[in-house]
Amino acid sequence: MSTTRIASIRLKTALPGPRSLALAARRDAAIPRGIGHATPIYAAGAKGALLTDMDGNVLIDFAGGIGTMNVGHANPEVVRAAAAQLERFTHTCFSVAPYEGYVALAEKLNSIAPGRGTKKTMLANSGAEALENAVKIARRATGREAVVVFEHAFHGRTLLTMSMTSKVRPYKHGFGPFAPEVYRLPYPYEYRDRARASAAPLEEFFLTQVAADKVACVVIELVLGEGGFVVAPREYVDALARICREHGILLVADEVQTGFGRTGKMFACEHYGLEPDLVTMAKSLAGGLPLSAITGRADVMDAAQVGGLGGTYTGNPVACAAALAAIAFLEEHRLVERAAAIGRTVEARFRSFSERFPFIGDERGLGAMRALEIVRDRAGREPDKDRTDRVLRHAYERGLLLLSAGTFGNVIRTLMPLVITDDELAEGLDVLEHALETA
Ligand SMILES: Cc1ncc(COP(=O)(O)O)c(C=O)c1O
Repeated sequence: MSTTRIASIRLKTALPGPRSLALAARRDAAIPRGIGHATPIYAAGAKGALLTDMDGNVLIDFAGGIGTMNVGHANPEVVRAAAAQLERFTHTCFSVAPYEGYVALAEKLNSIAPGRGTKKTMLANSGAEALENAVKIARRATGREAVVVFEHAFHGRTLLTMSMTSKVRPYKHGFGPFAPEVYRLPYPYEYRDRARASAAPLEEFFLTQVAADKVACVVIELVLGEGGFVVAPREYVDALARICREHGILLVADEVQTGFGRTGKMFACEHYGLEPDLVTMAKSLAGGLPLSAITGRADVMDAAQVGGLGGTYTGNPVACAAALAAIAFLEEHRLVERAAAIGRTVEARFRSFSERFPFIGDERGLGAMRALEIVRDRAGREPDKDRTDRVLRHAYERGLLLLSAGTFGNVIRTLMPLVITDDELAEGLDVLEHALETA
């Protein structure tokens, strides 16, 4: 381990400290238990890739608000733009008195989203709402009802997106009945299921599960987010896109977690040369403010009737100003290239961890979106959620915020802000290595 760097992590108390513990007690009395927490640390401030808790402890953040903070916590450009917009006006509702920020952001997203044709964009509040609207638009554009999704998918917590999500516990258990006309394909998860990772059964799916001419859209995460950072193989995506085209099925790329530089390209689609009909975005779109977007083929996006799309807060002007500033910051500071460089550093360290620790079954990812899959032993590949939880606990107790993922809860994933310094990155990886040693 390197010891020459000036450490960023500063722990004044054991974690969680007394102030976090006191807030946890108030939280338990005031807030339902169903909202989970990755750590029991209460935030007091955050800047760049560092988070300070209520007890004055400084932690390195490899979670980034679940991939929301690509431009860093309290990014000064985002703060300035949002504050200036707050002063001008806070909200008029785009459906009452529209404003330039929404239009300018739509223009920007149309220009950077994958796909060469003419595009249009609508804005919403959350990732789930983006997926809801993508399905609405796809149904209206095709006149078809069925939606095809994947095993291990996560698309949100509303009725339709919960129905589209795969993981039963905790996301679906006891919350049914679910939305109809949702059909599920195996995800090409080569490490766990090589046999089903091929594109060959795709045609058969439309014979045995749902008729292709009833399907409005296929929704895919090119890299599974909550599902464990599994990267879909290029040949699979090529075959899927071809089959969708042949059957008039719209292809929706869910880039909520992969978008805005995370994978070392602005959008994961670019790794595949994929031009989806619709793209959903959220998370790092607006530097931490709640905003999501659906960008797609103009003819498809225009299918819905006037008044059929919208919402009171959708495309709030403060969030639009923040998003324009966040995208400008990404571009000016070349954070997409930075994500690729972070990914190379993390990949090299993860490879060395794999050599050291026999319980690491798989090391994978795309750009800065990297993961370790923890198993009981390499031959059996049985998921080891207990060890994964211990690693995460040891890590946060030593000042590193980390998240798990995966249907079996046995994947450790990295979602650090892309403004993280080399020293912070190395220090965080040292803490993770130590946590792997001791767990
Ligand atoms: C790929 C993907 N789609 C959709 C969502 C839902 O986003 P939100 O939590 O903003 O509703 C998420 C959230 O993690 C996600 O990762």
